[in-house]
Amino acid sequence: MTLATTWAQTWCVPRAPSDRRPQRRRSAALPVAAAAGGHVPVLLPELLAALRPVAGEAAVDGTLGAGGVTRALCDHVLPGGRVLALDRDPAAISRAREGLAAYGPAVVLEHASFGDLEAVAQRHDLRPDIITFDLGVSSLQLGDPARGFSLRQPGPLDMRFDPAGGAVSAADLVNTLEQGELARLIRTYGGERFAGSIAARIVRRRASAPLTSTSELAACCESAIPRRFWPRHIHPATRTFQALRIVVNDELGELERGLAAAIRILRPGGRLGVIAFHALEDTAVKRLLSNLARVCVCPPLQPLCTCAHRATLSLPTRRATMPSVAERTRNPRARSARLRVAVRLDADPPAV
Ligand SMILES: C[S@@+](CC[C@H](N)C(=O)[O-])C[C@H]1O[C@@H](n2cnc3c(N)ncnc32)[C@H](O)[C@@H]1O
Repeated sequence: MTLATTWAQTWCVPRAPSDRRPQRRRSAALPVAAAAGGHVPVLLPELLAALRPVAGEAAVDGTLGAGGVTRALCDHVLPGGRVLALDRDPAAISRAREGLAAYGPAVVLEHASFGDLEAVAQRHDLRPDIITFDLGVSSLQLGDPARGFSLRQPGPLDMRFDPAGGAVSAADLVNTLEQGELARLIRTYGGERFAGSIAARIVRRRASAPLTSTSELAACCESAIPRRFWPRHIHPATRTFQALRIVVNDELGELERGLAAAIRILRPGGRLGVIAFHALEDTAVKRLLSNLARVCVCPPLQPLCTCAHRATLSLPTRRATMPSVAERTRNPRARSARLRVAVRLDADPPAV
């Protein structure tokens, strides 16, 4: 199984009218959250059951989004507790502020990346009992064509979580990268087997004029992939969009920094919950948590342990929790979600 087939990305897009598949299938693929214009948190009951937040605890939501997880944390840790919620997208912060104001001053929202979590938590003098990361894009971001995340509506090729943050946009990447590098990014971060043809098509297309819109990029992907190889459940451009978004926002680098910070600042006994939406993220989470949960790092054939290594984490379950069939049916965005949970032990993590 390839990365792309196991982890078909989260968003279903109706195909072109010429597609001969039955109409019923297309409408069933439309996400509920998008239809409602909001964001439905994925795996929320499972997250709460695993993290067991109780009144008086301090919690960090590293990915505020539309505030669903933050609200649930508030409902459990208040009164007496505190919640700090971060988002890299200033629009998410301003949209959620009003809805969360009723919880009062114990809830603080910060426009920051979770890669900077340690500094932000220190600024608020917070040693959390609970930290959550619900990775990826929110339905609010996907539903706003001006952000450039959605291939369903034409918009500027942007894809930056923080548009004022100075990072390169998706348009910068597709219009400036050398063809081989573009193909490598699309293959590595999108798991796209037609990455080479897509990159070639983009380079040919930009020779006449730079690509500026999501629909131009989507059209390049459609024409670069032979129709018979179009994926069944996702738009042919989905993997390319995913790859560009990951690179534009350095999502894997941020994740590594965010997880390391979270594990450093959690109290002993504190719980970490991470929901990932594609294999690259989930593999990074799994690898880091498993390494820190090892009690011995001696070579496997060494008969006696001499490493004096101490585990920093315990893992209540080795396997990721996946959404139920009912949730996947209700919310197609949930299809690829994986929840992993860890508990902080007394030992400090090794310095990196
Ligand atoms: C899937 S949504 C979270 C949805 C949220 N749990 C809810 O219930 O509404 C992911 C959010 O994480 C934010 N995000 C992505 N990378 C981030 C980072 N490095 N630091 C902080 N926020 C980030 C995105 O801007 C987006 O709003």
